[in-house]
Order: sequence, then C-alpha cells, then structure tokens
Amino acid sequence: MNGDFSPEEKDGFYKAVFSRRDVRSHFTSEPIDEKALSRILNAAHHAPSVGFSQPWNFILIKDKQSRRKVKDSFDKERIRSSNLIEDPKRSKYLSLRLEGILDSALNVCVTYDPSKFGPFVIGRSSIPETGIYSVCCAIQNLWLAARAEDIGVGWVSILSNDDLKKILDIPEHVIPVAYLCLGHVTAFAEKPDLEKAGWLDRLALKDVVYYERWNNASDPNWQQIHEMIISNLDYA
Ligand SMILES: Cc1cc2nc3c(=O)[nH]c(=O)nc-3n(C[C@H](O)[C@H](O)[C@H](O)COP(=O)(O)O)c2cc1C
Repeated sequence: MNGDFSPEEKDGFYKAVFSRRDVRSHFTSEPIDEKALSRILNAAHHAPSVGFSQPWNFILIKDKQSRRKVKDSFDKERIRSSNLIEDPKRSKYLSLRLEGILDSALNVCVTYDPSKFGPFVIGRSSIPETGIYSVCCAIQNLWLAARAEDIGVGWVSILSNDDLKKILDIPEHVIPVAYLCLGHVTAFAEKPDLEKAGWLDRLALKDVVYYERWNNASDPNWQQIHEMIISNLDYA
C-alpha cells in the first residue's frame, strides 16, 4: 500500500521534528493568532492517551501578575537547584537563560487529572505513570504544531508545583506537568541552546539503540539498519 502522506507532507512532518527548539529568549512582541492557537491546542488534544482518558487540561495564562509569581518561583528554584552543584558548573548553570515567562506572548500550564474517567482506566492499572506519559504526548503534539505555526515553545520545569497550584488555583488531586512559554521568535536556532552553550552534546543515534536486549549494541540479524544508524544519518 502506498502511504497517504505525499513526499512533501512527509518532509513537512520531519521539518517540524528537526527544527523544533526549546525557546527561552528571542521572543518578539507579535501576538499569537487565536486561530493558530486553537489549532495548536486541538493538535495537543488529539494526542494518544492511556485508555483514551484524555487526562490533560490546558490553562492559558496572559495575566502578568500570575506570571510574575511564577517567575518568582523560578528564581527561587533556580538558586535552590544551583546549590546542588559546584563551581565551575554552578556558575555556568546560573549563566544560562532557562525561561521566557514574562517576555513570551502566552504561558500555558498543562495538567494531569488522574480522576478523569477513573478510577478504572484501561491500561493504567499496572503502570500508573501512563497517565502522565499521556499528558507528555499532548505536550509534544503542542510543541510540534506550534513549530509548524511558526511559534516557539519553551518548557520551564525549574518551578515549585506547590507554588503553581496556589497561583493557578489547581485542585489538590491535579498535577501540573508542564509550564510552557509560547510566542513568535526572531529565529529558531539550529541546535539546542544547551548544546551551543557547551553544556551537553547530542548523543549519536548508535549509542541509544540496542538490539533484542539491553546493552546489545550490534547484532548480526540487525546488520543493515545498524550500518545506516552508524553512518549517522542526520535529517536536520
Ligand atoms: C520535561 C522537560 C523539562 C524542561 N525544562 C526546562 C527548563 O526548566 N528550562 C529550560 O530552559 N529548558 C527546559 N527544557 C528544554 C530542554 O532543555 C531542551 O528540550 C533540550 O535542551 C533540547 O533542546 P531542544 O528542545 O531545543 O531540542 C525542558 C524540556 C523537557 C522535555
């Protein structure tokens, strides 16, 4: 059967995947078109979810006062986490730009509600974390759709969930999974900021693929794909 994605559509998909970036700076003041935003949210809402439980909610935040409070939480947590490492790593960490809470057009908090369609959700009884995994699938859809709409997204996890819950009136049983900053940007960087800053490098694909069992990095039955993988095919 021929695939129903044309070559151009396939290219478009991979373009979104490889040119998506986590964006923390270079936001412009251009507002986000609400039609584009609704398409992005709808793409997120069409993610897979365990037992079709759709356990996500998206809190859209424009209010500057709320955002300032979230930024205060970031500032506190950033210092707290910096104390877990020593110089010169600590100074390097503190020099990195790791959020765009106030200068992005919009903040979105994506939450996980384990009570939705529960307590029995097909597929969640053995691995309860599948609920949160489902929310992460929605976040990735959002991130890629935003890229296709020319909108940058930055994920801020240097935050206290307790602070977030208070600031956004989130009920006790609901878990904030992601705090995202969205906005148009001057450009999408070619490489992750942390790679450019010399914090970490991207691993080679061959170093993360195993065959048939843990740590088996080559296998005669997988020769062809293994060669393709070590030739370091890089679409980006
Ligand atoms: C769960 C999660 C939490 C993250 N938290 C932060 C964060 O607090 N601050 C930040 O600047 N980037 C954060 N990031 C973005 C990563 O640093 C980024 O995805 C990684 O460096 C690769 O860069 P890229 O997304 O541009 O490919 C987070 C990403 C994920 C998936």
